[in-house]
Amino acid sequence: MTSGSNQYPPIRSYVLRDGRMTSAQKDSLEVSWPCYGIDFSQTLLDLNQVFGRTAPRILEIGTGMGDATIKMATMHRENDYLAVEVHRPGIGSLMRRIDEDKLSNIRLISHDIVDILKYQLPENSIDCVYIFFPDPWPKKKHHKRRLISSSLIPLIKNVLKNHGRLFIATDWENYAMQISEIIDSEPDIINLAGRNRYAPRPRWRPMTKFEQRGLDQGHYIYDFALAFKN
Ligand SMILES: C[S@@+](CC[C@H](N)C(=O)[O-])C[C@H]1O[C@@H](n2cnc3c(N)ncnc32)[C@H](O)[C@@H]1O
Repeated sequence: MTSGSNQYPPIRSYVLRDGRMTSAQKDSLEVSWPCYGIDFSQTLLDLNQVFGRTAPRILEIGTGMGDATIKMATMHRENDYLAVEVHRPGIGSLMRRIDEDKLSNIRLISHDIVDILKYQLPENSIDCVYIFFPDPWPKKKHHKRRLISSSLIPLIKNVLKNHGRLFIATDWENYAMQISEIIDSEPDIINLAGRNRYAPRPRWRPMTKFEQRGLDQGHYIYDFALAFKN
């Protein structure tokens, strides 16, 4: 499902781990990939064709086991959700739950989001981008691996429609500070909460085990709600 590219950024925001998939996850992946999975390619997607309708389009980056995706897609059948995740057991888990819940408004791509944004998603095709609890890479020497960087922001801006929104949540103070610095240094970004302020927790953002773990560790949850100047 993932295909090679000579143009990978040298530093990736993930390390592929050998996670075990349950046989139910494997079966769902095999049987349902042709229905809900999209192979990575350097050809632009026609999202209306992919979802079989025109609807508000949400891109969720790093869906993990798909906890938030399933809850949002169930609550908001009027939206379409494009879930991107590199971890295969996560993709398997999400696929199994799509099958179980018979959800028709989710599609999955199992590939690095950087390539997907560069090559596969058309300009002005997405209404909202969600990045919930990106890998924190807490050690200073690993900060360069963090997904949210000043090079990712223009790629996101490019696929967002006018008036599109980017929502981010993290429980890592240092990551939140780094995101705030990026916002400050990008003249195109509008922080909808106001300068140097965090957004209130969106009511529609489901709790995931990553948020719960952060809360259990006494972490504050930092939310960002961002827009872009045209
Ligand atoms: C800490 S988990 C959070 C999962 C989920 N958002 C949640 O809150 O439960 C971050 C996920 O992002 C994925 N990820 C990291 N870098 C990625 C990339 N460049 N492209 C796609 N997924 C990525 C990881 O595999 C991981 O599953």
